[in-house]
Amino acid sequence: MDQGLINSVRSSFRSQFGTNPVLIWSPGRINIIGEHTDYNRGFVMPAAIDRGIVMAMGKAAEGNGKWIATYVKEVFSPGSLPSHPENRKGWQAYLMGIHSELGKKGIFPDPVDLVFSGNIPPGAGLSSSAALENAFVYGLNEIYELGLSPTDMVSISHAAEWDYVGVKCGIMDQYASMFGQEGKAIFLDCRSMVSEMIPANLEGYQWLLLDTGVKHNLADSAYNQRREVCEAIATRLGANSLRELSVEQLEQIRSAIPAADYQKALYVLEENERVLRAREAIKRNDLKKLGELMYLSHKGLAEQYAVSCEELDFLVDLAKETEGVLGARMMGGGFGGCTLNLVHENEVQTLLKKALNSYRERFDLTLKDYPVRFASGCCLVKSI
Ligand code: GLA
Repeated sequence: MDQGLINSVRSSFRSQFGTNPVLIWSPGRINIIGEHTDYNRGFVMPAAIDRGIVMAMGKAAEGNGKWIATYVKEVFSPGSLPSHPENRKGWQAYLMGIHSELGKKGIFPDPVDLVFSGNIPPGAGLSSSAALENAFVYGLNEIYELGLSPTDMVSISHAAEWDYVGVKCGIMDQYASMFGQEGKAIFLDCRSMVSEMIPANLEGYQWLLLDTGVKHNLADSAYNQRREVCEAIATRLGANSLRELSVEQLEQIRSAIPAADYQKALYVLEENERVLRAREAIKRNDLKKLGELMYLSHKGLAEQYAVSCEELDFLVDLAKETEGVLGARMMGGGFGGCTLNLVHENEVQTLLKKALNSYRERFDLTLKDYPVRFASGCCLVKSI
């Protein structure tokens, strides 16, 4: 955890409100493998990372309380929930969404004052929204003793994003941010919601994110379209989700559906298999195999699921040609954001130099990079 971030959020709260806050750490996430499988009730393998949000909270000194986002220097006075979805914007919407979901359960916590900041790069696809939702519900639960379990909080955060903010995402981001553990990857079965924490021994390798700095416009609509295609194929075969289907069953309707749709469903089935193999590879410390599976995942995302873009493909191709990189792939919804790279510590600088120069030359954009480690999920920060 970033002690500087913790200190600055705590002291902002103290100077604003004159009391000692409850402090919550809530991380972003990476996803090692298992992309676009969560909403198909498949397998994912994310991990919470050492970049996240620190939120300081206390019972409101007066009225409805005051919410301060120090990193964007914005102050918000929460009122009643805006009824029109158009008005549900910005960071405030994620917190109001939590109130909305709690309200549906008959839970109406008293107001809070809060200050938060973070070091998750915005727009990079590292799930800052999930981190924010989790931080807030975690803090409310602590302060007003709501009796919610971490699993309850994950579903409240997810519902806030899905119902209130209107982003039809899967459960992976909120789950990883809540349940992550230091040094461990999370294997999650999104059908049974049973998970396994897998110690990851990187033996001289590390995770490096390369941020394309782009987010193409079709990202949101394409996400929903993919989802609809998958659901329609499952329904057609009498299943609740693609998870219940085999390649043989898919084959039966192959000629009756568009080839592109068939490929998307096939990708999901194959990606689920890759997650299972990746879990075994991590357990045996077979990083080479893990890297190969990451490259295959990218190929499937680009060629079958069709959610990659030129910038992402360029960075993955570059990683493939670089000594010391075992694997790379696009991460998250697609059409921009980051690639995740598994690189030997001694080769990081070589990769970065090469990537920075050639990315600038090709796209006239400055590539950003974030080394990340697997960190603890949402928790209270002990006061010093
Ligand atoms: C986004 C969503 C996740 C997941 C990924 C794709 O990050 O928030 O739930 O669907 O896309 O794997």
